[in-house]
Amino acid sequence: MSKLSYQFATRVAALQVNPLREQAKNSQTVDHYIKLTYGYPSNEAFPVDKLAKLSDKIYREHAFDFMQYGESEGIPKLRSQIKARLHKYQALNISDNDLLITSGSTQGMDLVFKLFVNEGDTVLTEEQTFVGAVNAIKSYGGYAQGLPFDDAGCIDTEVLRATLAADTSHQIKLLYLIPTFQNPMGTSMTLEKRQAVYDICKQYQVMIYEDDPYGDLLYTDKTAIPKIKSLDDVGIVIYAGSFSKILAPGSRLGYLLAPTAVFDQLILVKQVADSFSNLYWQYLASQLFEDYDFNKHIEHLRQLYRLKLETMINALRAKCQKNMSFSVPEGGYFVSIKLNDDIDGDAFYDEITQRQVGVIPGNIMSAAGKGYEKYFRLNFTLPTLVEIENGISRIGAAAEAAKK
Ligand SMILES: Cc1ncc(COP(=O)(O)O)c(C=O)c1O
Repeated sequence: MSKLSYQFATRVAALQVNPLREQAKNSQTVDHYIKLTYGYPSNEAFPVDKLAKLSDKIYREHAFDFMQYGESEGIPKLRSQIKARLHKYQALNISDNDLLITSGSTQGMDLVFKLFVNEGDTVLTEEQTFVGAVNAIKSYGGYAQGLPFDDAGCIDTEVLRATLAADTSHQIKLLYLIPTFQNPMGTSMTLEKRQAVYDICKQYQVMIYEDDPYGDLLYTDKTAIPKIKSLDDVGIVIYAGSFSKILAPGSRLGYLLAPTAVFDQLILVKQVADSFSNLYWQYLASQLFEDYDFNKHIEHLRQLYRLKLETMINALRAKCQKNMSFSVPEGGYFVSIKLNDDIDGDAFYDEITQRQVGVIPGNIMSAAGKGYEKYFRLNFTLPTLVEIENGISRIGAAAEAAKK
């Protein structure tokens, strides 16, 4: 067959193969490979027995509802249940806002960027951020501009202010943030920082996209830091949640809480994308909320992951401390390590690859794709405790071997 030269749209040229997915394919075939790579939940975290029972129940009671076409907004019962939880446990003000069920929070960001980003527009992000968000911004011809972190690992609000003040042509449409248990840094913004970011964006009338898939997973006894959305009295914050990290990524269930006028537009964009999200999982999640105490499930996850995080931090302290610094997160899925100056990032990555440990290089999780050569993201939720200990030992040995 002669080779055709396909005329793909220019918006696709800026996209790169997602390196996380590529690594996933390679590593699955290698024995003894320790995956500290992806943001996957532990298999032990899935409430399989409960869901099996509930599945049977919803097949008996709702089969024709979830096999038929459904509403773009999502099923009313699940939407009310999520709104009630957000109101009760996150103190989110639901009035003047509405909640859209999305196909994972990946779709949430895609819909919002489609709605707000014209070609040539800018979306501000944290310098290190979720690669899926950067790709979604680029897919609409937008530019993802990373803002530097301060010493606490949160965006520098003075740089934010200066950047918005300099944007006299109003090309900056949104600020995309992961304020709680950040991916990849693991850090959380303080309430003062959240308030400062909110006030600055309000002053310059720039929308904030608060991406919060990890927010429920707090492993200390501290009280949760209020969401930026809870500060929103004018309607500039879109809050995104997900069931991927707390129930099952295979559910592809996420949601957006958005000001009503934005919600109305999101429905139009959602109808173009996929009409509505998977109804079977919407009924299943709704029945889970109804028949079981979801807080107990979250508590189970907290105990499971707290132990894994502690194991990783203790191992890092014992095996790696002299060659790197690392974040000690209070929740979420990730620890971020930074190699000392005398260790080359590429040499270290070669060494850990030889030792069959998967981690994510910082540059992959950055808006600019560079500048974070010495940073690596480690996941602690998927591996077993033994894998965490062995993986960190191998990382310690790799750092020693990579020293100049
Ligand atoms: C910050 C952040 N946002 C969104 C997502 C996508 O999640 P979902 O599975 O809900 O599409 C992830 C997944 O890793 C993430 O880390």
